[in-house]
Amino acid sequence: MCGITGYVGTGRASRYVFEGLKKLEYRGYDSCGIAAIDGRIRVKKATGMIDEIEERINLSELPGCIAIGHTRWATHGGVTVENAHPHLDCSGTIAIVHNGIISNYKELRKELEKKHRFTSDTDTEVLVHLIEENYKQNLEEAVINALKKINGTYALLVISSEEPDRIIVARKESPLLIGLGDGGNFVGSDVSAFLAHSRKAIPLDDDEYAVITGNSVEVKSIITGKKLDKDILEIELTEKAAMKEGYPYFMIKEIHEQPSTITSAQNIYPEEIHAVAEAMQKAEKIYLAGAGTSLHACEVAEYWFSKIAGELVVAVDSSELENRAVVDNKTLVIGVTQSGETYDTLSAMRFAKKKGAEIGVIVNVIGSTATRFAEYVIMQSSGMEVSVAATKTYTSQLSVLFRLAIELAKLEGKDIKVIEEEFDSILDKVRQVLSIEEEIKGKADSFFNVSNYLFIGKGINTPTAEEAALKLKEITYLHAEGMSAGLLKHGTISLIDENMATVAFLPSDIENRAKMLSNIQEVSARDGRVLIISQGKVDEDEVISLPDTSELLSPFIFSPVFQLIAYYVAVKLGRNVDKPRALAKSVTVE
Ligand code: G6P
Repeated sequence: MCGITGYVGTGRASRYVFEGLKKLEYRGYDSCGIAAIDGRIRVKKATGMIDEIEERINLSELPGCIAIGHTRWATHGGVTVENAHPHLDCSGTIAIVHNGIISNYKELRKELEKKHRFTSDTDTEVLVHLIEENYKQNLEEAVINALKKINGTYALLVISSEEPDRIIVARKESPLLIGLGDGGNFVGSDVSAFLAHSRKAIPLDDDEYAVITGNSVEVKSIITGKKLDKDILEIELTEKAAMKEGYPYFMIKEIHEQPSTITSAQNIYPEEIHAVAEAMQKAEKIYLAGAGTSLHACEVAEYWFSKIAGELVVAVDSSELENRAVVDNKTLVIGVTQSGETYDTLSAMRFAKKKGAEIGVIVNVIGSTATRFAEYVIMQSSGMEVSVAATKTYTSQLSVLFRLAIELAKLEGKDIKVIEEEFDSILDKVRQVLSIEEEIKGKADSFFNVSNYLFIGKGINTPTAEEAALKLKEITYLHAEGMSAGLLKHGTISLIDENMATVAFLPSDIENRAKMLSNIQEVSARDGRVLIISQGKVDEDEVISLPDTSELLSPFIFSPVFQLIAYYVAVKLGRNVDKPRALAKSVTVE
């Protein structure tokens, strides 16, 4: 994980880099640091979140027009100042920041320790000493020679006070984009690092490196050393997307953006959806692969493909695809990933590609790795999501997947007019749910006062229950489990007591409603407290009543409710809602 950024040009580099790190903090936030060159390399690093350490990293003490920075999510070595990046070589003339994992670092370190002085426990530090070892007169050559000795993944930036006009950057399986600016050039783990100053980006691909100066960018292949012609990506995102606009947290702002992000998904060009639906029709086996919230979107969609299009589509935890799926050249694997950078999902896609499968992706971040190697790309266009807990991008993924199911059903000659029309008017219902925010907040205050929760649902709302539990867990740190209501009686029901409350999602559909009500009775009979989130009225004490929809569309109605519940419980407990402990928005390690 981790976020890296750099600047070289005529401006005050450490300020640009610090600004960029603030934007990249979602990638990790246990410590950060900056190295700048002004005659010599100066480094400032500290543990803690970037806002807390602004004063300790006194930027006025980091002059110069070239700098690199890093915000960390610890993998190798604890959260300490020593382990924070940038790391320096023994002479203090070379500095590096790195995102990724050097898998052969132990062997390399053993060898290097004979001559070099190590000051951290990180895998990264071996790289800077390797570069030092290879440095004769040319930083570019030294970096490339060092890279040839390492195994693993990296996005890295290297500077040297011997060559203070350039940053050498390289990429293998960790994201890196160069931003072209006036008077200087930028580099970052994603475009948000430099969006305020540049809308033109060159995404690096695997096994590529670049030499960046204030007025030139040269991209080359790490393997052949040959110069490469790269396309320039014009970015349309607006900076405004990364501001709270009066909301106390990004999460609540993003929850409220859902009517507009669902609309964006509804407006995606029909041709893009059609192309993927055609590929689905052609394929003999279809897998949807995702992680975390994106996996839950895949699981909801599995029901749509089965019930609307009559197609078996299997949702898989992307970290298990290789172990579980049967993939060949008649298979289609669709990655679902907000960031387009999740290691597990990219690995699943890469594995499937090697096996000859066709690859599609539903993704939010422009220029991300997933967009660069899938044959079919659907951009969900939800705008930047800053809060670590995914909300608006979830319902947007659902919208795209729903449209895919509808399109596939049409290709197969199914009559889906009624459900299609209902989806066109889902926005009004989502707005109605958001309008009862105060009532939902009231329930978050009164009902959520124990430390264990079960979320239960049936059919298409089984993944709803799983996603509701995940939302609560990740931002409140309370224990929660999500499962089908039917499964409850096969073990978990024995946990119900005064410390384990249950939340049930009750749809309008008569059959599943009746079954859910009887599962709810089983909980009540064991003195378990139940909050019922119900479409339509129900005669129970603890209820949140929501507008009716057909059951297949109910995940759109339930989602804002459990998102708001998790949000208000987290606020009540004083949690750092947007940056929960130990998590990161984009998980770029295995
Ligand atoms: C991390 C985030 C989750 C996210 C998951 C998948 O675990 O904390 O919120 O759902 O990654 O991310 P992706 O970008 O692939 O959708």
